[in-house]
Amino acid sequence: MCGIAGCICGKGGNAVPDVYEGLKRLEYRGYDSAGIAAVTDDGVTVVKKRGVVEKLFPHIGGMKGEIAIAHTRWATHGKPSDTNAHPHVSGGICLVHNGIIENYCELKEKLSREGETFLSETDSEVIAVLFKRNYSGSLTAALIKTVKELKGSYALMVICKEEHKIAVAKYKSPLIIGYGKDRIYCASDEPALAGKCSEISVLEDGDFALLSEDGAEIFDSRLRPVARKKQPNRAVSAELSLGGYPHYMLKELHEVPASVKNTFSAFSGVESEIVKTFSGVKRIIVTGCGTAYHAGLVGKRYFESFAGIPTDAETAGEFRYSEPVITDGTVVVAISQSGETADTVEAARLALSRGAKVVAVTNSPYSALTRLACVTVPVAAGAEICVAATKSYTGQIAALYLTALAVAGETADGERAARLADMPALCAKTIENVNVSSLAHMCAKSKGVYFMGRDLDYAVAREGSLKLKEVSYIPSEGYPAGELKHGTLALISPKTVSVVIITDKALAEKSVNAVEQVLARKGKAAVITNVDDVEDDLKGRAEIVRLPRCDKFLAPLAAAVAVQELAYRTAVKLRRNPDKPRNLAKSVTVE
Ligand code: G6P
Repeated sequence: MCGIAGCICGKGGNAVPDVYEGLKRLEYRGYDSAGIAAVTDDGVTVVKKRGVVEKLFPHIGGMKGEIAIAHTRWATHGKPSDTNAHPHVSGGICLVHNGIIENYCELKEKLSREGETFLSETDSEVIAVLFKRNYSGSLTAALIKTVKELKGSYALMVICKEEHKIAVAKYKSPLIIGYGKDRIYCASDEPALAGKCSEISVLEDGDFALLSEDGAEIFDSRLRPVARKKQPNRAVSAELSLGGYPHYMLKELHEVPASVKNTFSAFSGVESEIVKTFSGVKRIIVTGCGTAYHAGLVGKRYFESFAGIPTDAETAGEFRYSEPVITDGTVVVAISQSGETADTVEAARLALSRGAKVVAVTNSPYSALTRLACVTVPVAAGAEICVAATKSYTGQIAALYLTALAVAGETADGERAARLADMPALCAKTIENVNVSSLAHMCAKSKGVYFMGRDLDYAVAREGSLKLKEVSYIPSEGYPAGELKHGTLALISPKTVSVVIITDKALAEKSVNAVEQVLARKGKAAVITNVDDVEDDLKGRAEIVRLPRCDKFLAPLAAAVAVQELAYRTAVKLRRNPDKPRNLAKSVTVE
């Protein structure tokens, strides 16, 4: 949520195009408004507009400055508007902020009583006003004083015309520094700096930094100069392009096979550490948010079936407030594409504080979650730009499958692991052959879509429903097929579509009962299946989406491709942009 980018270069340089490009690459973090501030010969110039980053383009043609900061917003406090857009300006101070200031009402009231006025409804403008009051010739001194008054989370960049510097501060929102050829960068995430610099440093909570064209001086929370390791920037420009696809969602769906394959290859590097971390484990709690939580539902089944370890799956937001029972031998597996989701990171922190071991499953090796965890299982999905997760979900399932096998004492060259090795080809075949066009048409015309399944198919039903509602805005629910008759049946009508996922032959008959119940109530029905008998039973009565046959534990990978494709096709039919669903952001770093 919210992306920030900054750049400072030497005499005669222009930082504006770089931060604009950086913002475009950070748009998955929010697209409610965008803005840029640059220090020019005339002082500080600010351009900000409601809407996507591209809306800035016509207004920045003549904008030139050696220093620039920029922001793309996911609105939390105050509606999307030009006025609520960042940068916020107070006096000559310009500021961009990612995070939430929890005590902003209190501060705003106090500052208003003291005569300050505010233009926006945001929490961030309060920081700009505080900063202006604290500034007396030193950006760093003012920043340190200002953040002492803040409660909440922040990644901040501040500039003013008096100093040829960018001051930054970080607490619980991500921030990296990038070392370019003749300029220094700062951004929320690596993609913003793709093609600009090959090395970055990741700031820690409580860090401050002062950026100049010559480099970055970094200080820890006690104001001691610290060195933050330089690491390779993994984001590559070519990987971030659409590569001929109309949308990132479709491109990334086609990258599912590579995600599974590369996650498999990467696992050998951590296998022994995983075995060590889980040794003596008595209980596992799997946690995450959104799609990552849904991968966790699949993972729970793997840990219980392969390793026989009692496992619970809980959303990170619930886990944190449920007073979890953590005893000796508890391992918490925290799953997150970004590794920065506030609830997931805080759930991991809570688990550690109570004595559990934490295993991260993530795409982001430099993330807060990775830094906290005892060990990280890499999800080698590559950069995922579309807000709706596709290849990261299948990568997470592959990572959990291998982790559970390792906990069960099965090696990555064992029989079950070999079945995973066949899955990239099977997923590719599914992408090539799966035909969801007619089902997408039914969904696009419906008033509601209900996804159902049993056991692992239920986990995929939850994900299918989330994906569809995220990108098509059609009301949807995913629930266990057995629960249909306990409530949802009341909603079934000719205007609803029920999608039943059936990939386990042993459970097929029971799941077909759910389809019959839907048909009896004149609802429209579809099955996504790899079981021949199901097709024979329902031909002509329900829409059939055929999947290739595979091992029941790995069927979620192929079924995921089908439900992802269904969501994509439905969104496109309804002329929605699947890459930028309304109101959502990919990385939610606030609570
Ligand atoms: C947001 C995104 C979802 C994502 C969830 C968890 O809600 O819109 O697509 O599944 O965050 O993100 P994470 O980075 O922790 O996997």
